[in-house]
Amino acid sequence: MTMQFTVLHHPLIDHKLTLLRDKNTPSSEFRQLADELVTLEAYEATRDLDVEDKVVTTPVGVCHGKKLVEKPRPIVIPILRAGLGMLDGMMRLLPMAEVGFLGLKRNEQTLDTITYAERLPKDLTGREVFIVDPMLATGGTLATAINYVHERGARKITALDIIAAKPGVAMLEKTVPKDIDFHVVVCGEDDVLNDHGYIVPGLGDAGDRLYGLVD
Ligand code: URA
Repeated sequence: MTMQFTVLHHPLIDHKLTLLRDKNTPSSEFRQLADELVTLEAYEATRDLDVEDKVVTTPVGVCHGKKLVEKPRPIVIPILRAGLGMLDGMMRLLPMAEVGFLGLKRNEQTLDTITYAERLPKDLTGREVFIVDPMLATGGTLATAINYVHERGARKITALDIIAAKPGVAMLEKTVPKDIDFHVVVCGEDDVLNDHGYIVPGLGDAGDRLYGLVD
């Protein structure tokens, strides 16, 4: 299976993304914008969720509608810490989802990924997995997260990022296992990374901008 990569183009997304990128946007507004952007992204990212028939009675008649299939429950995995800024928006739309946690950070010298927290179900067979993380830079973090869930049997994985860098997307296209149905949805795509692995122009350090600096 090939990786599907979607860059969303919509006036609301372009507007909110530009405000998010602005270095003068304070943390409180940044958090609000990230929350709004993930709900807009989720509209596209959840397009293939399974639904089943449901009959309801309206005040004036019978309606043959649909409802989301709740078993097995989808799982949303925020990559700590910046992914937490996208969790609430996602859970508002998928209240039946379970939440797993992965704490991944970069070695700032080598840019290698280090796992410092992992709380995922042992078996993800048949589960729909949504990984949320604002920045897809080198692709290393997302590749590591995919390995964790792939090892546990997940075969349907969607990543929601706010900004992706082209080198990271190219890296994932080459390395992601071919037996998964993998979709990446982003609000914007930038061309390059700087020497520190930051996306340029990007928006800076998403974790710092959401939550402030912690040494
Ligand atoms: N992580 C961030 O927070 N920002 C980047 O530009 C790259 C990785």
